[in-house]
Amino acid sequence: MLLKAFVFFGGKGGVGKSTLSCATALKLSERDKTLLISIDPAHSLSGILNIPIGPKVKHVKEQLYALELSAEDLVESYTQRVFSNLGDLLPHLRSGLKEYSKYLRHSPTALETAVLDYLLDLTKEYFYVVVDSAPTGQMLRLFETAHMVKGWFMFLYKLAKDRERLEAFMGRKDSLLELIINRKRRIEELLDLLKQKSLIFAVANEEPLSLQEAEHIEKSLKFLKVYKVINRWRSMEGDFIKIPQGECPYGIEALRKLKVEPLVESIFALSTS
Ligand SMILES: Nc1ncnc2c1ncn2[C@@H]1O[C@H](COP(=O)(O)OP(=O)(O)OP(=O)(O)O)[C@@H](O)[C@H]1O
Ligand SMILES: [Mg+2]
Repeated sequence: MLLKAFVFFGGKGGVGKSTLSCATALKLSERDKTLLISIDPAHSLSGILNIPIGPKVKHVKEQLYALELSAEDLVESYTQRVFSNLGDLLPHLRSGLKEYSKYLRHSPTALETAVLDYLLDLTKEYFYVVVDSAPTGQMLRLFETAHMVKGWFMFLYKLAKDRERLEAFMGRKDSLLELIINRKRRIEELLDLLKQKSLIFAVANEEPLSLQEAEHIEKSLKFLKVYKVINRWRSMEGDFIKIPQGECPYGIEALRKLKVEPLVESIFALSTS
């Protein structure tokens, strides 16, 4: 595995998550191969980098790659994969599963579940993965979903184990358990990785509501490395990383001038510890 760090930017709407994601990924890519990925359905990387980025990984420059995930495509391919595996194993349930998958696609955490599954594959290709998320708590939801999915697979594992016992008693082989074990292992591997290699920047500005949201992120993800960041810092003092106002941070040259060194240093500190 190549991955040195998963870097997440979360926080209230408009505080600068996407701008800081771009500037940080740009700096990280000067050292190692980096993927900047937006999971916000209202993507803004193209506008900020001033380069068209789309739902396929784009080589931006040197060691920097970027991607604006298509939520729809990702959820679609994830549910299709899961349900076609299940349909092969449980052919008598195929039509019921098809119906269920229609609902699952629109469930509140479908996107986060599919994103989590996707993240694991990136660890073999990139040293740094920088994730830009949507406001309204999408980043928190991503971590909560990871735990929820793990709980769900523990439950399925118990059910599948009972079923296997029954099938063995009837003299039949059951492959469902193997499928569940593989998926359970995958989510456990991802949770371990997220725990060891995630770094979360809870971005705010000097506006009280944005600060409250950053504090909420910090409290909710106590078991992870969370740094509060005040973007467009003016004068406030406290326990956070300060990023000053830059000048029209659009396009690679302007983004390069943003003073995001403290963010980059914390990432290097994590990846060398
Ligand atoms: N350090 C900075 N200096 C100057 N302008 C900044 C800085 N950070 C962000 N901005 C500006 O603030 C605005 C909002 O930034 P951005 O789009 O990055 O926020 P966001 O948190 O990603 O928003 P959303 O929640 O809508 O995704 C943009 O116009 C951006 O150029
Ligand atoms: Mg944004």
